Amino acid sequence: MKRRVEATVNGEAQSMFVEDHRTLLDALRLDLGLTGSKKGCDVGECGSCTVLLDGRPVNACLVLAVEAAGAQVGTIEGVQTAPDALHPLQENFIRCGAAQCGFCTPGFIVAAKALLDENPAPSRDEIRFALAGNICRCTGYTKIIEAVEAAAVQLRGAAGEGA
Ligand code: FES
Ligand code: FES
Repeated sequence: MKRRVEATVNGEAQSMFVEDHRTLLDALRLDLGLTGSKKGCDVGECGSCTVLLDGRPVNACLVLAVEAAGAQVGTIEGVQTAPDALHPLQENFIRCGAAQCGFCTPGFIVAAKALLDENPAPSRDEIRFALAGNICRCTGYTKIIEAVEAAAVQLRGAAGEGA
């Protein structure tokens, strides 16, 4: 059976007409064309599909699209602060060499954004814990953690300037 699902995705009202069993990941990628969220394992093991659901990181491959009805969904496509301005996490992933093949990168950045939105000054252990559900087979993780630390510093600096 198909249902109409209304949700706010990256700040825009969206309407999806989906089967009950359709995952949020497939709805985002196939129905809305938001292909930044990646399908790695499709069973909740790799984190490459991480999106924000009402501000909390979730594996979109484990969430049904119908569960997103009325929710705020955030994907990697909505992370940029302006059309021509990368988010500090994106800038620092590039600068630190934290993205190599890039397949895991959207999930890591969304998960890290959820962390920094809640905790602007995380410790290394807190970063590791927040990203424990995300797997990268290229970088060895150190550069990813360095990139998140650098983004946190940059974001705190920007917040200080705005204060
Ligand atoms: Fe969702 Fe791997 S594709 S956790
Ligand atoms: Fe290749 Fe992480 S950069 S899997």
